[in-house]
Amino acid sequence: MSVNKEELFDKVVNLSKRRGFVFQSAEIYGGFRSTYDYGPVGVLLLRNVKEQWWRSMVQFRQDVVGLDAAILSPPSIWEASGHLTNFTDPLVDCRECGSRFRQDKLEDPNNCPTCGSKASFTEARQFNLMFKTNAGPVIDSAAEVYLRPETAQGMFTNFTNVLNTSRKKPPFGIAQIGKSFRNEITPGNFVFRTREFEQMEMEYFVPPGDSDKWFEYWCKERMDWYLNLGMKADSLRLRIHDSDELSHYSRATSDIEFSFPWGWDELEGIANRTDYDLNRHAQASGNKLEYNDSGTGERYVPHVIEPAAGATRTAMAFLMDAYEEEEVNGEVRNVLKLDHRLSPYKVAVLPLSKKDELIEPSKEVLNLVQPHWMCDYDQTQAIGRRYRRQDEIGTPYCVTIDFETLEDKAVTVRERDSMHQDRVSINELVDYLSSRLVP
Ligand code: GAP
Repeated sequence: MSVNKEELFDKVVNLSKRRGFVFQSAEIYGGFRSTYDYGPVGVLLLRNVKEQWWRSMVQFRQDVVGLDAAILSPPSIWEASGHLTNFTDPLVDCRECGSRFRQDKLEDPNNCPTCGSKASFTEARQFNLMFKTNAGPVIDSAAEVYLRPETAQGMFTNFTNVLNTSRKKPPFGIAQIGKSFRNEITPGNFVFRTREFEQMEMEYFVPPGDSDKWFEYWCKERMDWYLNLGMKADSLRLRIHDSDELSHYSRATSDIEFSFPWGWDELEGIANRTDYDLNRHAQASGNKLEYNDSGTGERYVPHVIEPAAGATRTAMAFLMDAYEEEEVNGEVRNVLKLDHRLSPYKVAVLPLSKKDELIEPSKEVLNLVQPHWMCDYDQTQAIGRRYRRQDEIGTPYCVTIDFETLEDKAVTVRERDSMHQDRVSINELVDYLSSRLVP
């Protein structure tokens, strides 16, 4: 049963709250707009998205190293990066109802979506998206600091530190996952655009003449990452930016876009940032930021290719792409057909009944599997309802302990998508699951 695109958004938002993926932040106080908390299964999904990114971008590569830079940063960084001047969106107010909008996101720039007034908008003014705060007990301009709006700058300012300590040479990359903050004018579409979010970014430093080649390489590599994790090919596309769309630092950018219920929208940008950032920080700090090959004597400022993805946005896209409804025995089964590497729980251990004689062997099975995988354990409700609950949060394998287990020392393993069941000896359970749950 295909899910209607218009309904998909509400269904996924509803599922997120009902099953513990995402909650509205500060809900008991009426909710704090545009901020979200990740619940017991949401935090696992998000961790798995980040873990898969880290595996492919750092663990499996000898040319990329990791970093975890500070979120609070002095204005000098953002002056040099150009963000204090250029990181703005055009803001308009409706003169009739006072609503504020980001002009470039309005469906009709002459029509207020709140009150319907025509031609009621003020002239657009540039609104800077940086969050400013004060460090230390004295509130004066000398103590002003910013919350980073992207993780990228920490990788540029640490370029020399990483080069000197990691023994890498171009082409090489620095990767980072972490929170970023933007005072978005119009946050919305659930966790798609929020003021606090997580990014997964990598700065890949290359010899200047090689940047076009590496830009192409990273566009393909990043598309393959989503496809390899099971995202449907027709849910994804690569869109090349027009020159008037390019960020202030970019020579070329392509976006990986996902077909969201409201249309195609960005998941990740891959940009050729040239030597813009290293040059700007070198000028502003007075420190040379260049590569010096001691063998050949060659010296240059590397160019940078940057694949920049949103972790929270990507987790939501995987949720939407995986959500399916199927008719089983005259009933609708909601199932998240997530790749098992992204599934919050890999295994659910379910005693068929709450009777004492089944609880002890069930706990033994749990103790056997939970050192290997994130497991859920559930002994409430009828088994059919427990299977449905696990289907809805994407658990690939349910292991059921029944009365026969006491005799044959075997369990029933049910696979989520096919609902096929195998009887597996407890002694062989870890091997059985290991061959299917490849990291
Ligand atoms: N360093 C480059 C950079 O930050 P970006 O296109 O502005 O580029 C990269 O951001 C990714 O971060 C986006 O593709 C998106 O997935 C995510 N992102 C950006 N703003 C966001 C927001 N307000 N809420 C959620 N995710 C956001």
